[in-house]
Amino acid sequence: MITRVRDTLYFQPHSGMVTMERLDKYLASRGCGSRREVQQLVKGGAVTVDGAVCRQPDCKLDPDSAVVAVNGQAVGDKYVYLMLNKPAGVVSATEDRREKTVIDLLPEPLRRRGLFPAGRLDKDTEGLLILTNDGDFAHRMLSPKKHVDKQYIAQLDGEITEEMIARFAEGIVFADGVKCLPAKLTIAENGDKTVGRVTICEGKYHQVKKMFAFCGLHVVHLQRISIGNLYLDGKLPIGSYKSLTNLEIQQIFIGKIH
Ligand code: URA
Repeated sequence: MITRVRDTLYFQPHSGMVTMERLDKYLASRGCGSRREVQQLVKGGAVTVDGAVCRQPDCKLDPDSAVVAVNGQAVGDKYVYLMLNKPAGVVSATEDRREKTVIDLLPEPLRRRGLFPAGRLDKDTEGLLILTNDGDFAHRMLSPKKHVDKQYIAQLDGEITEEMIARFAEGIVFADGVKCLPAKLTIAENGDKTVGRVTICEGKYHQVKKMFAFCGLHVVHLQRISIGNLYLDGKLPIGSYKSLTNLEIQQIFIGKIH
């Protein structure tokens, strides 16, 4: 009977809307193991689809509606969205021959999920970084046309002046002709003029450091604290991560200076 249920799914004519997926591919893409490992799990009877044991790794299912479990544990979503409080000293890459990457900070099961950083922070920059395996989402978040705001706290080697604030607001043009969109610079709430809060809505290489360098200041420490309306969780220790809720994901696209 179980086989019949699976066969029924397999031979169901596709409606055109539903893209059926092989069970082993479905499981591997959701972090249940390598393709070979999940095939063994399926053949061993550890996997149920809609409550019935399925022993055929190649059976097809509708990934949007099937309820799949491994050893009784429901299989999670295909896409993962993490907030990482990036420490200094790691690079925003998936792999690097010499440097430790942000992916190296994750436990092994998550490292197998095809995650990548949605955007980059310099090696010495700390703070909010989104890790995901959802390419469409990352594209939407990073698209220059979307103008998603990014807020940074910068510790400087000198004081911010009113003239600098005006320069940021006008839009700085670097010596090589690269033009920055207008940005917001304010002095830290406690009045310390060597600490600036900067909001930019683009992501040029070393942008914040170069904007301050243009004004004659060196950034001693840089931390990203928000993307859109999503703020770095103040309780998240440096080097730690947490899953984002749907609401938090939506918050990325809310709140703009442009
Ligand atoms: N601007 C920089 O200069 N560095 C970063 O890491 C991010 C923005």
